[in-house]
Amino acid sequence: LNYNVNRERRYILQVLFNGLRRLEYRGYDSAGIAIDDSSSKCDSNSAPPPLVFRQEGNIESLVKSVYREVEETGVNLEESFGTHAGIAHTRWATHGEPAPRNSHPQTSGPGNEFLVVHNGVITNYEVLKETLLRHGFTFESETDTEVIPKLAKFVYDKANEAAGEIVSFSQVVLEVMRHLEGAYALIFKSLHYPNELIACKRGSPLLLGVKELTENKDSGSAFEDNKFLSKDGKPKELFLSSDANAVVEHTKKVLVIEDGEVVHLKDGGVSILKFENDMGEHRASLSRAFSVRRALSVLEMEVEQINKGHYEHYMQKEINEQPESLTTTMRGRLIRRGSNIPKSVLLGGLKDHLKTIRRSRRIVFIGCGTSYNAALAARPILEELSGVPVTMEIASDLLDREGPIYREDTAIFVSQSGETADTLLALQYALDNGALCVGITNTVGSAIARNTHCGVHINAGAEIGVASTKAYTSQIVVMVMLALAIGGDTISYQARREAIIDGLFDLPNKVREVLKLDQEMKDLAKQLIAEQSLLVFGRGYNYATALEGALKVKEVALMHSEGILAGEMKHGPLALVDENLPIVVVATRDACFSKQQSVIQQLHARKGRLIVMCSKGDAASVRPNEHCRVIEVPQVEDCLQPVINVVPLQLLAYHLTVLRGYNVDQPRNLAKSVTTQ
Ligand code: G6P
Repeated sequence: LNYNVNRERRYILQVLFNGLRRLEYRGYDSAGIAIDDSSSKCDSNSAPPPLVFRQEGNIESLVKSVYREVEETGVNLEESFGTHAGIAHTRWATHGEPAPRNSHPQTSGPGNEFLVVHNGVITNYEVLKETLLRHGFTFESETDTEVIPKLAKFVYDKANEAAGEIVSFSQVVLEVMRHLEGAYALIFKSLHYPNELIACKRGSPLLLGVKELTENKDSGSAFEDNKFLSKDGKPKELFLSSDANAVVEHTKKVLVIEDGEVVHLKDGGVSILKFENDMGEHRASLSRAFSVRRALSVLEMEVEQINKGHYEHYMQKEINEQPESLTTTMRGRLIRRGSNIPKSVLLGGLKDHLKTIRRSRRIVFIGCGTSYNAALAARPILEELSGVPVTMEIASDLLDREGPIYREDTAIFVSQSGETADTLLALQYALDNGALCVGITNTVGSAIARNTHCGVHINAGAEIGVASTKAYTSQIVVMVMLALAIGGDTISYQARREAIIDGLFDLPNKVREVLKLDQEMKDLAKQLIAEQSLLVFGRGYNYATALEGALKVKEVALMHSEGILAGEMKHGPLALVDENLPIVVVATRDACFSKQQSVIQQLHARKGRLIVMCSKGDAASVRPNEHCRVIEVPQVEDCLQPVINVVPLQLLAYHLTVLRGYNVDQPRNLAKSVTTQ
């Protein structure tokens, strides 16, 4: 939203489209925008309705269709606006197939009196829809969102009828919010309140960016004392987004909006209202909304981080930047002072809670997808060094079962985005049950980072590719450091601890080495291009590698793939083995090595088509016939080996996808951040 600055419609469209491009990884099956029409075209006193464009498909389909329509209808791209409020949305379908009518902005009806873009799910939309239908509203979409602009119109009309005077935009939205259940981040635009926008949230992420367009000598204090909140008449642009990625190219000054807050942008000022209690299921009354003042924070990210650089795809870039991302993850956290002083680990976010964690009755890891797999990779070392039992929970399954979580438990929530709906609900559940909650996320200011008692940021940098790669390896490294920190300084483990710390220091170099397998993995991908299925066998530390390798292949290459615990081979998977089905066996050196050797022998005996991943120098011992392919990887400390072993599988999944002609960064039906249940 720009104030006191003349911006051409062309620029406004560009800002909105670029914002969408930055968010596309969160959903890419349809998209839409609303911009202001020119008041010059309107002969009455009221503003003309906003122009709305919606399109099925990715952002580029929307961009093309908007420019086509603009040309056909003669909308002037050169026209300037002193103030302009635009909104845009890219969608990952929950309710209703991808189609223009189900895309956002959703509207209150003809005339676009109220327009809404929404991230989340409204759980009571059916009840609201019935009520609105009874009041004569008609619906065109199958979305849950459509009730929101219609409810806004209903509230607005009622209030005007009753009071005979215009209510404020924020009053309308506060009233709408009182009726909504579920999770949402919403932006409202209205014909009745031109040049204003309202945003609010509960459960889903939302951020405000403030860009002042004039030289401000004391810009430091401008956000410290919240000057920006008031109308100062200075030209500025304000950005609301689900994610910092869409804002960082304009400004680094941001405000993370909290649940229950209503942000009102008007006349170049920002006011924030909040209900007295977070509404939760309580229907707070309007009179209990009060105004709050908050300080801006500064984003710690650079635009370059969210560009592809010289790579063709984000996934490729993110795989290749792992030596650097791991270095950043460990920066300032490993301590190697001198020959007489033991090496140690410092995790600032945990230091006040380590005693409690050590005394826990058990540690429970909770996460989804790749984050769950990362926790699984770290489980053995945490058990070994802490002596505390460690159990694993997939967030949705914990919720389905309402599994026991006790006050004496430490629950560790692992999430790249820090916003995954299932993980967040599991966090609420663990908090309600009194457990100590620890967050491990890549997103400063995310819901998981904010709502846990303590935690560690993985600092892997923005991850854009939907298939997680660098966040996975950074998560493992953080959890290994966590194990070292929880383990403390017991003498009996000193040598082991120091070996791991040395291994951590050297890990980025070892990852650099394993990345040299790129061409080899591309060749392997060529061989596997037409396969229907791929199995990955692993055990011990590398059961997680099997699950994660298979997940990568499944997610992006759209090939059936299964990670199998090698210890279970005889209890079913062996039946699948023949000379055709490709099987990757992870058999690097660790305590399970000899067991994996016998698995390989048994697979050879059944003429299995094997691709064995082994430690450098072991090739000869695992290749008893010419049908077996070997991938040799550098050997590291056993608990760090999953970081090395996953890399060739990431590369394999990447090349398979490119060769099969699929979209690497936006796999079919998936989204990076699953903020709905
Ligand atoms: C989605 C993503 C995965 C990710 C999972 C959990 O499925 O596509 O890459 O592992 O969500 O996300 P989180 O942000 O909680 O790690």
